[in-house]
Amino acid sequence: MTFVAPSILSTDFAHLSRTLAAVNESKADWLHVDVMDGVFVPNISFGTPVLKAIQQHTKKPVELHLMIVQPERYLETFARFNINQMTVHAEACTHLHSVVQQIKRLGCKAGVALNPHTPLGYLEYVIQDLDMVCLMSVNPGFGGQKFIPQTLEKISQLKELIRRKGAAALIEVDGGINQTNVTDVVSAGADAVVAGSSVFDSSDPRQAIAALKGAQAK
Ligand code: DX5
Ligand code: ZN
Repeated sequence: MTFVAPSILSTDFAHLSRTLAAVNESKADWLHVDVMDGVFVPNISFGTPVLKAIQQHTKKPVELHLMIVQPERYLETFARFNINQMTVHAEACTHLHSVVQQIKRLGCKAGVALNPHTPLGYLEYVIQDLDMVCLMSVNPGFGGQKFIPQTLEKISQLKELIRRKGAAALIEVDGGINQTNVTDVVSAGADAVVAGSSVFDSSDPRQAIAALKGAQAK
């Protein structure tokens, strides 16, 4: 069974509580929450006031995907909002190993995200400490972009790296995932998929989540 994490980035924020209620009733495994600073990525999403609203309305575990520079400055603040996992970008952390330990000290699971062009070698000496690797299958910053096909090869190579190192990290893939390409993503070795627009632009988000969850490797 594939883990499915809906990304609320493309939902209607005027009705956030309604969106979160629908996700609560769905088969989603966790909520994927995209925080952007307008520096690491060319877009600004939201910060602590929205995290507070999410905490009040969600019944699902929350993964924060931090598309921000120097995330270490905010981890302690964000951890107060009942966050289960914090995923930082390797490209945004000069001292990635140290940031991973900081996340764990705060009682959260630790994830590291890689941009589409970033080599897997960045993970060679930190993979054993990670609960998850998030492979970006679009350039981060916006929902609704097209899946980059080279990601499939990268997923397989990451699977091999995890096996070789005896690590336990899950592989999450983020960006452009829909019912047409999810089987390829899972077949390449993904454990979890993030989906924003394919879920929230659909007429029935709960059903869209269930369909993604049913994806099986070929
Ligand atoms: C993009 C974000 C994604 C995004 C996914 O920078 O990290 O989580 O919301 O949205 P879709 O599924 O529409 O590509
Ligand atoms: Zn994301």
